[in-house]
Amino acid sequence: MTLRSAAMFKDHLGDPTGAVVARAPGRVNLIGEHTDYNDGFVLPTIVDRHVEVVARKRIDRKVRVVAADLGERCEQDFDGTIDYTGFGWLPYVLGVAHELVQRGRMDLGVDIIFRGTVPREAGLASSAALEVATALALDAVFNLWLNPADMARLCRDVEHRYAGVRCGIMDQFASRLGRPENALLIDCRSLDARHVPMPLDNHRLVIVDSGVRRERVDSAYNQRRTECEEAVTRLREADDPITSLRDVTLGMLAEHKDLLPPDLFIRCRHVISENNRVADACESLANGDLAAFGRLMNASHFSLRNDFEVSHPALDRLVEEAIQVDGVLGARLTGAGFGGCTVNLVTETALPDIERQLAPFIDHWPAQSIVVGTPEQARVTEVIA
Ligand code: GLA
Repeated sequence: MTLRSAAMFKDHLGDPTGAVVARAPGRVNLIGEHTDYNDGFVLPTIVDRHVEVVARKRIDRKVRVVAADLGERCEQDFDGTIDYTGFGWLPYVLGVAHELVQRGRMDLGVDIIFRGTVPREAGLASSAALEVATALALDAVFNLWLNPADMARLCRDVEHRYAGVRCGIMDQFASRLGRPENALLIDCRSLDARHVPMPLDNHRLVIVDSGVRRERVDSAYNQRRTECEEAVTRLREADDPITSLRDVTLGMLAEHKDLLPPDLFIRCRHVISENNRVADACESLANGDLAAFGRLMNASHFSLRNDFEVSHPALDRLVEEAIQVDGVLGARLTGAGFGGCTVNLVTETALPDIERQLAPFIDHWPAQSIVVGTPEQARVTEVIA
């Protein structure tokens, strides 16, 4: 049986009276990959895995953080130099707290304990869920009343400043604003977000974890971002008033092909075509045409594999095997790539068939698969009396 939040806090950090419990979900991106930092469009939804944070204000300026699942703990002082090394999770939790201190929103220290069910480094945004759950808890503890979009932006800034990943806004936005049974269409330029109902009927989203965890994903990710920026700089030579790949059409790209080396050309082709696919995917959801949605997922995967080159043989294998199964409408890698998970759109009756087909290629089926059940949206769940 899992320990209640109050008992967990008490075991590690003392009296839990007044502590706030907050939860934030992981996300699976349905389509729109590597488009967010190009001012483009993304369409993620939340999953039924979350991170829970319990936080309580202190009377001094110390901060104590416990990672309950890992048995790790650290103690620091906001008046000293904050050290972000030591534990992989530190930049996310401490980064949110420190950022709020620096913005003058938190004047006292805090005790924090967290645990979670989002698999780490699997492309399901466990770090965003940790940032958002931490921000929600601190928001309630210190009465900050941050609006959801500002909170998501703060969490994204934390990732840039303290974790060194130049990510886009998708993960933090999805974790903070996503709702069950809806996808979230985000215009990453204006940051307008719209809930898009997902009429899945007798279909399910199945997430399959390849088990591959590639090291230095962060540097490969940052490199892709740099490549996109370089492409924009070169395309500007054509006098087009563009500020990001969002402003470029496939026609413009073809016209200015000579301005780009071949590898940058195909990176751009992915981003631009992927933005188009997000628009088409929304239309197919509105029309209840899941078959069309599935075809777009497949096309997205092949573009990520061939043009953006962020796939991995294990992911390609899972996708190629899955789409051979009758009743699998579409499959693609999800998240940054280089390892992690695939997301599959599957007719309910075909669930045993996809399981049989993929079992030889993953270690612990079904432990490594998640049929997206009913997720919970990010919220403060309790204030401990
Ligand atoms: C990671 C980043 C996101 C996004 C995806 C790729 O999840 O955190 O901002 O760029 O990769 O679509």
